[in-house]
Amino acid sequence: MNTLYIDVNEYLINDRLSRDEVSSALSGDKLPNDEAGTSSALRHALAPAVSALRNGGLCAFPTETVYGLGGDAKDPEASKKIYAAKGRPSDNPLIVHIYDFSQMEEIAEDLPEAAKKLSDAFWPGPLTMVVRKNGVIPHETTGGLDTVAVRMPSHPIAAALLKESNVMIAAPSANLSGRPSPTEAAHVKEDMDGRIDCIIDGGPVQIGLESTIVDLTGDVPMILRPGYVTKEDLERVLGCDVLTDPGLKTGERPKAPGMKYRHYAPKGELLVFEANHANRGERLSVSPRIAEEIEKRKAEAEASGLKVKVIKFSEYESEEAIAADLYRLLRECDDEGADLILAEKPKTDRLTDAIMNRLLKAAGVKECIRV
Ligand code: TXA
Ligand code: MG
Repeated sequence: MNTLYIDVNEYLINDRLSRDEVSSALSGDKLPNDEAGTSSALRHALAPAVSALRNGGLCAFPTETVYGLGGDAKDPEASKKIYAAKGRPSDNPLIVHIYDFSQMEEIAEDLPEAAKKLSDAFWPGPLTMVVRKNGVIPHETTGGLDTVAVRMPSHPIAAALLKESNVMIAAPSANLSGRPSPTEAAHVKEDMDGRIDCIIDGGPVQIGLESTIVDLTGDVPMILRPGYVTKEDLERVLGCDVLTDPGLKTGERPKAPGMKYRHYAPKGELLVFEANHANRGERLSVSPRIAEEIEKRKAEAEASGLKVKVIKFSEYESEEAIAADLYRLLRECDDEGADLILAEKPKTDRLTDAIMNRLLKAAGVKECIRV
């Protein structure tokens, strides 16, 4: 298959929009002469993607979290194509993307009050809700489950694609199964070129970690995958306790089927170091002991002919910057052929659960190595 590559930036600039107008179109501002909130240049750029989606084809597109690989969520054949393109086991359900809350009402059964509250607070944005489904979304899309995961993305290109096509888009992350999620169109191209109809390049994503998934089908809301929207954020809005799936920590039967697979893993061995205790004035994550340990292990490994890469999270300015760069770093390790990757434990605050979940999964362990 010939994959069409749509560079939205280039397209808008070729359409004689200035760079400022392009960035305001991409940040969701209305452009002149536009009633629907989608600029005519953007509409033009997206036309082949819209047509692919309407005709049972697949299209990769940017969201604020990671790039998604989309197909018509109501079309069982499109869902089968998504599984085939990713090489993903078909018992692992897809997230259905929407642009209006009424679409959730169209596909859900017994929608709980919490869904409306969370939608008002966090949609459009990086939150996915699992609710009971009616018959509108087929079992091929939900991996045979009677529940459906729903998300309303905020990225202007994702929103425009949903509106223009009027298709509810089933979209997993646009990576080959087992590889880190794509945070730039080049990552999507690496994994999906020749396997799907088109790739929309909207530049690097903002957040860089997949959405928080919260299951609303039980008595108590439960986080199935930590993300940018935190447990505290959800508790504040719902006014009740929110649990975190215990299977995430133990690795045993996590409730989001996808969390049981080995994910995000670079090809080389990844070791993450944390200091046992900090001396006065030191931060645990950047204790000199960690630097010494990393230097020692690097020298040993290099002496035996291994290619070593060191990741210094302490050089990042914020936890958001770490989140945004994490998957790119893991892919870079593969590109450079690293056999051994040595990393400091990042200093995190509100994103601790989200970042450490991905990093420890990439390392294939439950805890950091203490030195
Ligand atoms: O940020 C995101 O959520 C991105 C962008 C593209 O929106 N999508 C994404 O999809 O990360 P994916 O397929 O890579 O991850 C979806 C996760 C999987 O772990 C899957 O098992 C879980 O959601 N999931 C989907 N439907 C579910 C359901 N009905 N019940 C429990 N878990 C579900
Ligand atoms: Mg994924």
